[in-house]
Amino acid sequence: MTRREIEHINHEVLKKQNDIIQRIKQNNENEYHKTGRIKYARVITYGCQQNNSDSEKLKGMLKLMGYNQTEDNEEADVILFNTCCVRENAELKLYGNIGALKNLKKKKPDLIIGVCGCMMQQKHAVEMIKEKYRHVDLIFGTHNIYRFPEIFEKALHEKYTLIDILDTEGFIVENLPVERDEKHKAWVTIMYGCNNFCSYCIVPYVRGRERSRNPEDIIKEIKNLVQDGCREVTLLGQNVNSYGKDLKIEFDFADLLYKINSIDGIERIRFMTSHPKDLSNKLIKVMSECSKICEHLHLPFQAGSNKILKLMNRVYTKEEYLEKVKRIKEAIPGIALTTDIIVGFPGETTEDFEDTLDIVRKVRFDQAFTFIYSKREGTPAAEMMDIISEEEKQYNFNRLIEVQNKISREINESYKDNIYEVLVDGPSKTNKNILTGRTRTGKVVNFKGDANIGDLVNVKIKEVHTWSLNGEVVMSNQS
Ligand code: 5AD
Ligand code: SF4
Repeated sequence: MTRREIEHINHEVLKKQNDIIQRIKQNNENEYHKTGRIKYARVITYGCQQNNSDSEKLKGMLKLMGYNQTEDNEEADVILFNTCCVRENAELKLYGNIGALKNLKKKKPDLIIGVCGCMMQQKHAVEMIKEKYRHVDLIFGTHNIYRFPEIFEKALHEKYTLIDILDTEGFIVENLPVERDEKHKAWVTIMYGCNNFCSYCIVPYVRGRERSRNPEDIIKEIKNLVQDGCREVTLLGQNVNSYGKDLKIEFDFADLLYKINSIDGIERIRFMTSHPKDLSNKLIKVMSECSKICEHLHLPFQAGSNKILKLMNRVYTKEEYLEKVKRIKEAIPGIALTTDIIVGFPGETTEDFEDTLDIVRKVRFDQAFTFIYSKREGTPAAEMMDIISEEEKQYNFNRLIEVQNKISREINESYKDNIYEVLVDGPSKTNKNILTGRTRTGKVVNFKGDANIGDLVNVKIKEVHTWSLNGEVVMSNQS
């Protein structure tokens, strides 16, 4: 399909959905004139940044339909759960939360309860909701979010649970309405899906194959964000380093970064997630050359033992990972490194786990997101044999956290008495008299001073903790 043909289809899709949005909005307005009641929607998001970004689109569409956002179930006319299925605990949490709405639905029969996102791309989860949670009104998946108004309108008029799931990914629909949680920084999805099929991971099955957005659409979106006051973008994709491979033009992730770096008004560029196997020298070069790209890289290594990395289908060895880290550290001094680690993958012995600890000690990550392996039906790892007990896994997991926390704290100590640029996120949630923000390296800083959301200020670090830093504004770059 040519770009023009895609744009035409995109236009038709948006037009149809927009007509439905207008119809629902009109109905809500008519009801308001009769009853004086404003309508509210609550969107509850589980899981990763991609889900947050999808939820911002759902909120955007709901807003145009006339629903204000609420965090209160009792006030809500619509409650949507955007689900995650990467690990079992996210699924269990969802079932608990949907179950808890049964009585509310009895009390307010007009309440619309919807469940969408990754979990709904799995047949067993949809069956479970259909059978055990009959108070759910609509179910849809990850591939048809753009048709939410159409699905929602049907659900408003149906008594049974409406299910609308696409098994395969379609083309990317651009320009959906978005209600962003914050103005000064934004998530920008640059690609969808994943081709890697790490043997433990459900994502490729529920999010489909890699599809890159057109660079022009991404640049246009970021320029519009700047107009709206945005200063920091985080580019999102399951594996941003393979951006562009499916496009029919010679344009890769590094090229995209160069382009975004030249957009006036953007001050900071972040991205996630990077797969170590695709981390190229060209990317390291662009990171060291472009002043707006923050000195932070999230580079999951998952496990240290080469035997386990092979079983995981990660396509790199411990030595290759360490070599890449060495190159990155040389090219970008002071870079903060974060990672994801899985403990207790089938077949992992405590001796294998020592290799994980070895990487943690050698690399000295600023932060690690650590998970105990969770069996996902349908993935190759689900068929593999466990070797060690759950107790031993938990013991290793606790050791890992202890080692990592000590390193995080030590790295944070090196920030003490130095001055860092902080992008102000606003008042701290726990103390309204204190501001909070992040350094370019991604550290949370709580600080005293006078500044507005979105300002870049210089903060002197006075005190450090494992997860955050405390400080005081010394000189404002901009107010
Ligand atoms: N069990 C535990 N952790 C998992 N992750 C992905 N799949 C699983 C699983 N089955 C972790 C990986 C990934 C992060 C987003 O979630 O570390 O990088
Ligand atoms: Fe899952 Fe691996 Fe793809 Fe990440 S790269 S989403 S862990 S399959």
